[in-house]
Amino acid sequence: MRVYSVLPQIRYSKIREIAEKVAMKNRLLPPEERVINLTMGQNFIGDPTPVIKKIGLLFGEKIPPFLYAPSLGTFSARESVANNFYYLWYGARLETDWVMITDGAMGAIRNAMGAVVEDGDIIVVDPITFIYSLTTLRIYGRKFKLEVLDADEDTYFIPSPDYIIEFLDTLSQKNSDKKIIYYTQFGFNPSGAFRSKSDLKKIAELVDDSKNIILINDIVYHLIRFDGLELPLASLLSDEGRNIFDCDALSKPFSLMGLRVGVLITRDKELFDAAAKIQQYSIVSPNTFACEIWNVVSDPENFRELKETVERLNKKLKENFEMTRKNLGKLGIDIVSPGQGTLYAFIKVPNGDSEKFVDDLIEHARVALVPGTAFEVVPKYGRYYARMTISVTKKQLQEALERIEKFLRQQS
Ligand SMILES: Cc1ncc(COP(=O)(O)O)c(C=O)c1O
Repeated sequence: MRVYSVLPQIRYSKIREIAEKVAMKNRLLPPEERVINLTMGQNFIGDPTPVIKKIGLLFGEKIPPFLYAPSLGTFSARESVANNFYYLWYGARLETDWVMITDGAMGAIRNAMGAVVEDGDIIVVDPITFIYSLTTLRIYGRKFKLEVLDADEDTYFIPSPDYIIEFLDTLSQKNSDKKIIYYTQFGFNPSGAFRSKSDLKKIAELVDDSKNIILINDIVYHLIRFDGLELPLASLLSDEGRNIFDCDALSKPFSLMGLRVGVLITRDKELFDAAAKIQQYSIVSPNTFACEIWNVVSDPENFRELKETVERLNKKLKENFEMTRKNLGKLGIDIVSPGQGTLYAFIKVPNGDSEKFVDDLIEHARVALVPGTAFEVVPKYGRYYARMTISVTKKQLQEALERIEKFLRQQS
């Protein structure tokens, strides 16, 4: 075989596959017939202007070379994140040497996973979650085992802390020669539910008490929140932050998805140094532009304007969420979400076959969603749900909802 033998077993990302199929289809269609693409986890209505316009080096007479940044990001970016970014939002300060600038949250998760996962280790995930990084690890040749926690739609697929603790603790004792790596989220994609700070603290305390449990806490949605912010950093909810990584990015709140502006935080020096090597040999250098962006968003002088920008975004998203809930509700379709803050509506599909539902909608309603099966590694719940991106203009969302309504009424 000419290609790396693992690759043929890996399928192209389901979300990308649908999004790209729709994009190709749309190229051939007149504007009014194009499929409305609500597949991608992108914030189409956020405003990066207040951030980007403050990047001085873009607006000089002559733009200086964009050099490679140091492997961990520029010192000034790391320092300003540590001193200010989480302080401004949550009153929490970090130390500079806990902070690594990364290529998005995905870069941070990759570095964290890459730093710790050994062949035979066990990765534990929630039943419906962001599973992309597991495939990255397989691409990197790691042969891990997988365990999936259980939780159903009544808890928006977030397992209770007591159950998680018992599950991880038992697993850790039975496999004391292995590492147990729990990847989880703080604000969940796709359900729009948040774990509470107190529940996160309980999990962090279990990690403190154990030798071989490692927590990778993905907090990429912490500012996309309608019901009030809560400190998302597990590193700070633990005694010493041993065996804990937090992974963040500015992709979602400031609509900077394509610029890859992320950060990895860990107080654990050994894990930090290991993650730095993964980063060094995966991306050559973090993006210098991203480092400048972290400086801008961490500058106390800019905070008021940025806070207003995020509040405006959350207001629009909440309106879109409520509109979607109301319109789909009339058709008997529930959104499985407490609506705490989200770019998505995770909907219960009418026929219990989300892949077919998604295909039918693309063909007949010209609206593209993602089947819930794209968010699970072991098929159980995904077929009953689909994810719809609602972070689009109200007009686009309205049009999409009308098309879905028309299609469903024709069906019944
Ligand atoms: C839960 C979660 N984590 C991480 C990412 C990737 O974020 P980034 O673009 O910052 O790499 C996404 C993207 O959709 C996500 O939903």
